[in-house]
Amino acid sequence: MENSMLQYYRAIGQIQNVISNASSLDEALQGGLKAIVDNAGAESGVIWYVDKAGDGKLHPYFWIGPVDLTSRSHAPGDGAVGRVFESQRAERLFEFDALQDVETAIDFAGMDVKSVVCVPFSNNFEDLGVIQFVNRADGELFTDEAADVMEIMAMMAAIALGENESIAAPWQPGEIVMQLRDITREFQNGDIVTKVLKGVNLDVYEGEFLVLLGESGCGKSTLLNIIGGMDSATSGEFSYLGQDLSHATQEELTEFRRDNVGFIFQSYNLMPNLTALQNLKLIAELVKEPMDADEALEIVGLEDRKRNYPSQMSGGQQQRVSIARALVKNPKVILADEPTAALDYATSIEVLQVMEEVVKGGTTMVMVTHNEEITRMADRVVRMRDGRMHEVTVNRHPAHATDLVW
Ligand SMILES: Nc1ncnc2c1ncn2[C@@H]1O[C@H](COP(=O)(O)OP(=O)(O)O)[C@@H](O)[C@H]1O
Ligand SMILES: [Mg+2]
Repeated sequence: MENSMLQYYRAIGQIQNVISNASSLDEALQGGLKAIVDNAGAESGVIWYVDKAGDGKLHPYFWIGPVDLTSRSHAPGDGAVGRVFESQRAERLFEFDALQDVETAIDFAGMDVKSVVCVPFSNNFEDLGVIQFVNRADGELFTDEAADVMEIMAMMAAIALGENESIAAPWQPGEIVMQLRDITREFQNGDIVTKVLKGVNLDVYEGEFLVLLGESGCGKSTLLNIIGGMDSATSGEFSYLGQDLSHATQEELTEFRRDNVGFIFQSYNLMPNLTALQNLKLIAELVKEPMDADEALEIVGLEDRKRNYPSQMSGGQQQRVSIARALVKNPKVILADEPTAALDYATSIEVLQVMEEVVKGGTTMVMVTHNEEITRMADRVVRMRDGRMHEVTVNRHPAHATDLVW
């Protein structure tokens, strides 16, 4: 590593900066991890934090990378992460062998794991956990020199955090509703093949508000369409409540989405010649166990608008009717693709408030957006980049829709 001392001092400065400017412990840990992963040139990085007040295991608190670690954990001594926590000595698996470390292989299933470094995350007062690095972003293997720097960076981050705050309990994920493994999607036009999704590994948990964030064109809608059974992956596995739908026929997918999934789009797609109530009743007739249409309109606060046609309502009201239309199916999951992109700020907040209520009522929500501020109200945020998951974060204190400002 050329100029390694200079690089090292720069990294330490950045980490200290990020941590001292953070407004919460979560922000400090997340920002600190980003700075460490960037400086280490790693593809993936994880802060495993020990839950001393709870089950005594190491849980992933923040991570960067293309896999979903949400429900993974390690007891001290269990796998490289557990061993490093117990011994407080780094492990350098420069040429990773899945057979020698099955735990790590399971954590990162779906990723081509080549090189792993686990370093203790401890300050003078206590052992907080372990920071794990997986793969160099450039495809090379980690080196001893790089691992030395990672160790020092982790130590500096732990010291900068100090002893003053303790972290919130780990998030307890519900049952897995949808599971995606190694999902790819290619589109072929003539001789040209466009790879849009390049291996997505994601779980959707019961009752969560999951937000998919990413720039235009990164594959959010393509992914949402696969989750909702509107499109099929080119390769990979997709299951709903344990039922494998990877090779489902068109008819099976149609049945799946009719019975289980509600959709909300940027454009409201209401039938113009039907009233709000009629728009809902039309859908209620198609499904097995619909919610009462009047009740659905009440939830979105439009009971007094039920005889209005779409043209007699504002954009925000029409979007609320379309939320009610999704609700009337009584679906387990609602998928929303940029539902506020066409709305002004005040109207967006109104619509997001309704979505917050819907999640509170027990419906699982997956929402796509390119608005960073909206991520604050999610339980979990998946940041996508160029057809891959880049970062998954759990919000332990989600904001209310009414707290959002942009
Ligand atoms: N049917 C298709 N044929 C070819 N390319 C497509 C098709 N659908 C989407 N794409 C391409 O896939 C990429 C991702 O699209 P999309 O999932 O809509 O992105 P996002 O929702 O993140 O803006 C874009 O470059 C888009 O042009
Ligand atoms: Mg889109």
